[in-house]
Amino acid sequence: MRRIVTLSLALSSSALILLSGCSRTSDYMPSGDATGEQIFKEACVECHTPVNGNVMVLKAEMANPEAIIERVRNGKGMGMPAFRNLMGDSVESLANYVLENSATQ
Ligand code: HEC
Repeated sequence: MRRIVTLSLALSSSALILLSGCSRTSDYMPSGDATGEQIFKEACVECHTPVNGNVMVLKAEMANPEAIIERVRNGKGMGMPAFRNLMGDSVESLANYVLENSATQ
């Protein structure tokens, strides 16, 4: 009996952690001289598969470098992870690569 209680406590606290952490974090680290294209291929392409030569279709309000950088650094919901290690030149060249190779909705 005691075991069952302990197990259900463990299960409910891990469910709480899952629910409260509504966004995921990636610990991807780019190499110092990586281009935007290299970073995209290493960190993003697994989820953002290019279609007809476009790496993604951006909503109008996302089609600028500031919005892309904000989304990459902070993530969104359960699907899009936050990339805390992408900053400075690396996140800027990544944002420019995404902009140049995306369609806009
Ligand atoms: C584990 C899967 C995954 C990875 C890896 C990933 N993304 Fe995403 N991304 C998503 C999902 C899912 C969404 C849609 C989230 C939403 O709007 O709720 C999204 C949305 C976005 C958007 C917003 C598009 C729009 O118009 O709303 C941008 C920009 C973006 N991702 C860029 C990137 C970049 C750049 C990388 C690599 C550093 C990356 N993503 C890595 C899953 C991923």
